[in-house]
Amino acid sequence: MSDVDTTPAATAAPATAQVGVAGLAVMGRNLARNLAHHGYAVALYNRTQTRTDDLVAQYGSEGTFVPSTSLEEFVTSLERPRRIIIMVQAGAPTDAVIDALVPLLEEGDIVVDGGNAHYEDTRRREAALREHGLHFVGAGISGGEEGALNGPSIMPGGSREAYAALGPILEDISAKYDGEPCCAYMGTDGAGHFVKMIHNGIEYADMQFISEAYDVLRAAGMAPTEIAGVFQEWNTGDLDSYLIEITSEVLAHVDAETGKPLVDVVVDAAEQKGTGRWTVQTALELGVPVNAIAESVFARSTSGHPELRAAARAALSGPTGEPVKVDMGELVDDVRDALWASKVVAYSQGLDQIRTASQAYGWDVDIAEVAKIWRAGCIIRARLLERIRSEYAAQNLVTLLAAPSVSADLATAQDGWRRVVAHAVAAGLPVPGFSAALAYYDTVRAERLPAALLQGLRDFFGAHTYRRIDREGAFHTDWSGDRGEIPMR
Ligand SMILES: NC(=O)c1ccc[n+]([C@@H]2O[C@H](COP(=O)([O-])OP(=O)(O)OC[C@H]3O[C@@H](n4cnc5c(N)ncnc54)[C@H](OP(=O)(O)O)[C@@H]3O)[C@@H](O)[C@H]2O)c1
Repeated sequence: MSDVDTTPAATAAPATAQVGVAGLAVMGRNLARNLAHHGYAVALYNRTQTRTDDLVAQYGSEGTFVPSTSLEEFVTSLERPRRIIIMVQAGAPTDAVIDALVPLLEEGDIVVDGGNAHYEDTRRREAALREHGLHFVGAGISGGEEGALNGPSIMPGGSREAYAALGPILEDISAKYDGEPCCAYMGTDGAGHFVKMIHNGIEYADMQFISEAYDVLRAAGMAPTEIAGVFQEWNTGDLDSYLIEITSEVLAHVDAETGKPLVDVVVDAAEQKGTGRWTVQTALELGVPVNAIAESVFARSTSGHPELRAAARAALSGPTGEPVKVDMGELVDDVRDALWASKVVAYSQGLDQIRTASQAYGWDVDIAEVAKIWRAGCIIRARLLERIRSEYAAQNLVTLLAAPSVSADLATAQDGWRRVVAHAVAAGLPVPGFSAALAYYDTVRAERLPAALLQGLRDFFGAHTYRRIDREGAFHTDWSGDRGEIPMR
């Protein structure tokens, strides 16, 4: 890398672009346009030339684009240190682009992966590029195509040196909350993609809770348009968020072909792709309890098993008693409280996972900064995030649930939350998200847990030993003998 004179890049035409985007499908194209809108000269490259040509033909007048027909030309067109944002499919395609780029780059150049990479891939790539004297930045980007164009939330990880050269550009094009950029340095190697993964895990939970809220109200007799109104109303209070806002839009939408609410003609089977699953897999590996997020991933899996559902539907019955009577006004208020409290639990679990991983990998992630850059631009943007930011900025919290303002509001919301779960259980309505979140709330606040009995059982059949509340050390009871207690060490 350091032999500047012999690289193809160094022998070609003078560089004119300040930043480059490789991969010009919807995300890359919109990110390139966003960069151009902010006055940057943007080098463009895509494996299939037509995407580059189309971008220039359609949007060339929006700013300065420097299109290229080859990766060599693309690299040559960039000022040093080169700042290259890769926006291609995660996995093998990202490796293919990196492998092709590396021989063309020079020491100190910065390669950014803006795709949805697994953080372990990012750690591997960062280490490999560091060997070549290159910086590798794994940057989580949230906000979909609209965000990429008008201001996403950006979660970059990598070296601080790379952030110094790249951060100002990313902060420029990111969403703004009260004038503050929704982009901040997250930590070394995989920290940025880890934070993005957790963002998506929380997004899974948020959407599951919203769907359960809808389901409970629908089962109680409300029409989708009425529920749309309820969500619109909620969006003016503590639940104010992008997902609540778009829920009211989706629920109000009528299918043009049938005249039915759209929600009634859509197949009730959800996909679960990479990041939600990764969140749960990683949580298991790190030993972090994220049961509300996990239930949200499993709820999608269950919905997507038609054979299982058909067999169970044919065989199983629901509650046989009188239909559950409800006061609709009270139910709406209770569901709002269940939704808010469950959402707080999901955030709490996701942030706990970031905190734990940060310690395990030495990232030193500032949770207040995470909340800060999620306040706008990303899919989980919500009023709650400013409160989370200020709570974490004020003190070092073990859990969001212990933040003074949060625990006080949970105390108020919990009665309604419990009534909703009890009502749903009595009515035979599945609320895996609400009930998992409530179980977590009750588990973590419990004085004593039945894990004590569980430890006794493990000692009984496997001599796994147990610890006592009144003495140091490990103990085993001689279950098959005289049942005396034996100190083990
Ligand atoms: N869509 C979203 O809302 C969203 C949100 C956040 C993050 N992301 C992430 O952003 C990245 C880009 O997403 P996207 O939806 O714009 O595009 P995409 O459909 O994930 O990927 C298409 C792009 O990848 C390129 N590509 C695929 N295989 C390649 C290979 N072997 N070598 C070189 N290029 C290759 C394609 O080039 P060709 O044109 O030549 O086929 C095209 O430019 C993904 O990692 C995605 O997960 C997407």
